[in-house]
Amino acid sequence: MKLAVIGAGTMGSGIAQVAATAGWSVKLYDLNEEALQKSKTSLEKIMDRLIEKGRIDSDEKARIEGNIEYVGTLKKLKDSDWAIEAIVENLEVKRNVLSALEKFVSEECIIATNTSSLSIASIASSLIKPDRCIGIHFFNPAPLMKLVEVIPAIQTSQETLEESVKTIKEWGKIVAVAKDTPGFIVNRVARPFYGEALRIYEEGMADFATIDWAMKHIGGFRMGPFELMDFIGNDVNYTVTETVFEAFYFDPRYKPSFTQKRFSEAGYLGRKSGRGYYDYSENAKNPEPQKDEELGKEIFERILVMLINEAADALFWNIASAEDIDNAMTKGVNYPKGLLAWANEKGIDWCVEQLDHLYNHYHEDRYRCSPMLRKMNSDDVKFDV
Ligand code: NAI
Repeated sequence: MKLAVIGAGTMGSGIAQVAATAGWSVKLYDLNEEALQKSKTSLEKIMDRLIEKGRIDSDEKARIEGNIEYVGTLKKLKDSDWAIEAIVENLEVKRNVLSALEKFVSEECIIATNTSSLSIASIASSLIKPDRCIGIHFFNPAPLMKLVEVIPAIQTSQETLEESVKTIKEWGKIVAVAKDTPGFIVNRVARPFYGEALRIYEEGMADFATIDWAMKHIGGFRMGPFELMDFIGNDVNYTVTETVFEAFYFDPRYKPSFTQKRFSEAGYLGRKSGRGYYDYSENAKNPEPQKDEELGKEIFERILVMLINEAADALFWNIASAEDIDNAMTKGVNYPKGLLAWANEKGIDWCVEQLDHLYNHYHEDRYRCSPMLRKMNSDDVKFDV
């Protein structure tokens, strides 16, 4: 099968590698010649590393590289069965490029977008045949992250959805189907991991290092929230939060944090700028966490229950199935457990009690318990995961 990938940046290059590895013939298009060259060199390096690790041999490298052709004009994509767009996150640019692409490809070609924050319906409406359009949201790095969110727009046909799910599974990925709503699954459900951690810091309950320690040591997360924000970049992470907040008509649950805004404004972006919540310069001395088990437990449980509330609410609003919500968090962002399974383990009554305790203390809508949890508690049932 023939795939066109539009945009040869971080995501486009990763998606091309995934499809080429699965035996698809890929054309990777970018208007920037340098981006194409960079993508090619970077793939060669990745392949060499895989050979060093003994994961592939040189024949396999030649096969994968041979499956990707780098092209500089849209016209060359005309014989594609599939197209995935991964260009800049700008609605007008995406709409223009996809509507130009539609003029070259066949009627049957599925046209997907890898957008992480735009509405699929608005992108689909740029096409003459919007029923062929769908969101296919990979995670970075695409070849390593198992999860792909598949997001049908209201215009998307059932065939397009089924064909997309089948193809992505054939590429060795785990699919979570999500409703076309802000943040889809992962970028919605994960918000409290950052937001509640920032709030705990702002209230003076603990410092960055202690909060990170609590989430790793007690919660079993691979990275603490501040380490992760430094890794993602405070500018990028802040923008996602602000976008989700606005898209949800300013629901206080997603309110961005002044701390992160100031860090971003100051240029303390994280690893990429050498300084974020931590100092990444050589010989830097970062503060040690306060290893107080009781405080750590309080921090972890507060962030956990806010995450569980978000996951339960996503189920309440039919954003995805319980299974897909749990898979999304374990396979998309490496959470140690699915949040709904975690809720079962802690007890639904415990979740409701913790949330009501926070709500009674703050009297803020941010801490309102999802009707899903409350109803399940009164019916004495657990999540079906
Ligand atoms: P990037 O900046 O690394 O790459 C974008 C590429 O698109 C560049 O090479 C650029 O030259 C090219 N491009 C821009 N306008 C173009 C046009 N009109 N025609 C052809 N090529 C054009 O961006 P990245 O990070 O790969 O993101 C791409 C898309 O994927 C965005 O929609 C982003 O929101 C989404 N995404 C990004 C993730 C990430 O972690 N970076 C994760 C999941 C989705």
